[in-house]
This record gives sequence, C-alpha cells and structure tokens, in this order.
Amino acid sequence: MNIILLGPPGAGKGTQARILVEKHAMIQLSTGDMLREAKDSGTEMGLRVARVMAEGKLVTDDIVIGLIEEKLKGDSGGGFIFDGFPRTLAQADALDELLENCGQSLAAVVEMRVDDDALVSRITGRFTCGNCGEVYHAKTKQPKDDGICDQCGQSEMKHRADDNEESLRTRLMEYYKLTSPLIGYYYAKGKLKPVNGLGEIDAVAAEISEALV
Ligand code: AP5
Repeated sequence: MNIILLGPPGAGKGTQARILVEKHAMIQLSTGDMLREAKDSGTEMGLRVARVMAEGKLVTDDIVIGLIEEKLKGDSGGGFIFDGFPRTLAQADALDELLENCGQSLAAVVEMRVDDDALVSRITGRFTCGNCGEVYHAKTKQPKDDGICDQCGQSEMKHRADDNEESLRTRLMEYYKLTSPLIGYYYAKGKLKPVNGLGEIDAVAAEISEALV
C-alpha cells in the first residue's frame, strides 16, 4: 500500500509516518529528510538547498523528483509513505508517472487538517534526535529522561534551522499557494482521506488507521 501524508508544516506528517513504519513495515520517503542529508553533504547543490530551506521556500521540482525516483528503485517493503512529497501539481504528475512505470499505484492521500495557531506552537516547540530522527515536542512529547532519546538512548537533540516563526510564515504561504491545490487534485481522483490532525498523537494515528481500511 502506497500512501501520501499531505498537510501543512507541523501537521504531524513525520510523527505519523514513523508510527506507520512501525505498525506496517512501510518505508518512509521524506523529501525534507533527504534534502537535509543533501544539505549536510557540503556540496554546491547542498549549499543551494540549505539557503532555500532556511528561507522556507520550496526546492525546485526537478531536484525532489530526482530524489524520489532514486528511492522508488529500491525495496518497497509494505509500501511507501510519501511524507512531504508531492508539494506541487508538477510533482504530483511526476509521481503518478513514476509509480506507473514501476507497476505501482497510490492507495490513499491522507490530508492532515490542523489550524495555523496549533502549527506555530508545534513548530516552535519541536526538537529531534540527531542520531535516529525521533521527533519530540517541548510540551506534548518529551523524552522520558531529559535530553535522552527514548528510541536510541543517544543525547543528540537538535532544533531545525527553519523552525522559527519567520520561516514558518513563508512555509505556510508556500503550502497554501503551491501545495493546497493538491487537495482538489486528489479529491477528484477519489483518493483523498481527510483526518482531524488536532487530536493527540495516538488519536490521530487511530483515525489514520481507520481511514486506510
Ligand atoms: P519538511 O521537512 O517536509 O517540513 P514540513 O512539511 O514543513 O513539515 P514538518 O517536518 O515541519 O512537519 P510535520 O508535518 O512532519 O510535523 P512533525 O511530525 O514533525 O520540509 C522542509 C523543507 O524542505 C521545506 O520547507 C522545503 O524547503 C523543502 N522541501 C521538502 N520537501 C519538498 C518538496 N517535495 N518540494 C520542494 N521542497 C521541499 O510534528 C511537528 C511537531 O508537533 C513535533 O514536535 C511533534 O512532536 C508535534 N506533534 C505531532 N503531532 C502532534 C499531535 N497530534 N499533537 C500534538 N503535538 C504533535
């Protein structure tokens, strides 16, 4: 089963993707994570990507489509979870074609609905484990031992460079302008499954499970 998690920055896409990976042995394809890896590589492309991401703008379609194309050549396990991709209509068209070329299809697009006020507090309180990528929040999801990751036991917590109010405003604008048209696109294809992303993490996970039956 291949699914897309669609929603604004901070909607909980990464958090829910990790739960789905554990439950269904699916493979998470996060273009945000892939771009952060490219950024850390120190190459010229990585430096360009770093500037665009820090501003909260979208990286060009050809770069992200290329990243996804590479991953689709690998093992699909229990299916792919597209987290943060597609983000434009051009990316959505490219994904249709890439999936068709490898004999796969899209089961559902889970639209995570969260209002803007909640997004600001989620983004400004977020921190992640630099070792395994587990996502935490200063108020709603703290590690059991302060500063130590529950998953891998390392103490490498970090904040993202784009997790500030100014960058978030740009990211939200990009979402409403370029990504939200995908809601209509997938509705018209009969794939859209809206869920209330405002509940607690486990409640949202349960709603997603129901939507995918
Ligand atoms: P990306 O990394 O994809 O960021 P994003 O879409 O802005 O989404 P986030 O990772 O910020 O949020 P999320 O929805 O995953 O929320 P999370 O689970 O972490 O992209 C970053 C940048 O890369 C983009 O701005 C762009 O420049 C570039 N990029 C990436 N993909 C691209 C593409 N396809 N095309 C072009 N450019 C691209 O949760 C957030 C916080 O809330 C956490 O602290 C979490 O613990 C907490 N939380 C989660 N769920 C709940 C809940 N139910 N209740 C309370 N707290 C919760």
